[in-house]
Amino acid sequence: MHTAPAKIILFGEHAVVYGQPAIAVPFTALNATADSTPAPHGSGLTIYAPDIQRTIVVTKNKVEDVGDVLAYAAQRALVSLDVPMPDLTLTVRSTIPLASGLGSGAAICTALIRELTAAIGRPLEGDALNALVFETEKIFHGTPSGIDNTVIVMGKPVYFVRGTPPETFHIQSALTFVIADSGIAAPTRESVGDVRKLYEANPALYQTYFDHIGAIARTARTQIERGDVPGIGRLMNENHDLLGTLTVSSPRIDDLVAAARGAGALGAKVSGGGRGGNMIALAEPSRAESVLTAVKAAGAVRGWITTLAAN
Ligand code: MEV
Repeated sequence: MHTAPAKIILFGEHAVVYGQPAIAVPFTALNATADSTPAPHGSGLTIYAPDIQRTIVVTKNKVEDVGDVLAYAAQRALVSLDVPMPDLTLTVRSTIPLASGLGSGAAICTALIRELTAAIGRPLEGDALNALVFETEKIFHGTPSGIDNTVIVMGKPVYFVRGTPPETFHIQSALTFVIADSGIAAPTRESVGDVRKLYEANPALYQTYFDHIGAIARTARTQIERGDVPGIGRLMNENHDLLGTLTVSSPRIDDLVAAARGAGALGAKVSGGGRGGNMIALAEPSRAESVLTAVKAAGAVRGWITTLAAN
């Protein structure tokens, strides 16, 4: 069995599509898994996804068929390794809510390609795996920056600038986050597309917003490296306001953010593609439970407390 974690973006989503830095970390409480069993000779590759009641028969190594992203992920992997269609049944499962800003698509494709390539004796990891998952991200997102596949494949905190090698960084003090699911599914493709329309209508203005978010992500990295926890919280609040200006927050997310801050969070913001999806709040460990209770009372359908360890 192979797995891949969910992810959360701490700083810089959306602006990262336009070349600004962003910071993301794996979220291992939720993950995608893939298992495989040999299938009878000549039966080819079948992908079974019980969570979404789908059975996909992958008939040939053609990569033009992007109709189904799971089939596409498998086909891309087989073509890149130049191997024939194996006789295999792959079962993929995920505990990551779909369209929630937690990287469900990238995690499922990562687990699937890991299992498929291991099962045929040609395991792909690292840059080769990341490049393949990035191709599948284009189907989910249209114009992905590459941050989701990178943090999920690496399984480590990353400071990411599109088109440059991802960097890991020092975390001086452990950080406790409360994550709250708004229960509203919102495809990243749509929010990224809407931000692009706004940018194209007024590039100079939107560039100032992206630059400001980029400056916040750079400062946040320094503060994470120094362990300035209240400062990181303030930057999350500032980043949230700018994401609201980009129209990617929503009334429900704003309610969750207000509830988290009201319960003593040091900072809170929408995370990922936005509109719905998830909110993250930074809290002192002693406050995290109260913040979680407050966001649930304010309408979160699920919530988690997670700690990003010092390194
Ligand atoms: C999605 O998790 C993050 C976005 O910045 C899109 C991307 O970077 O591809 C909204």
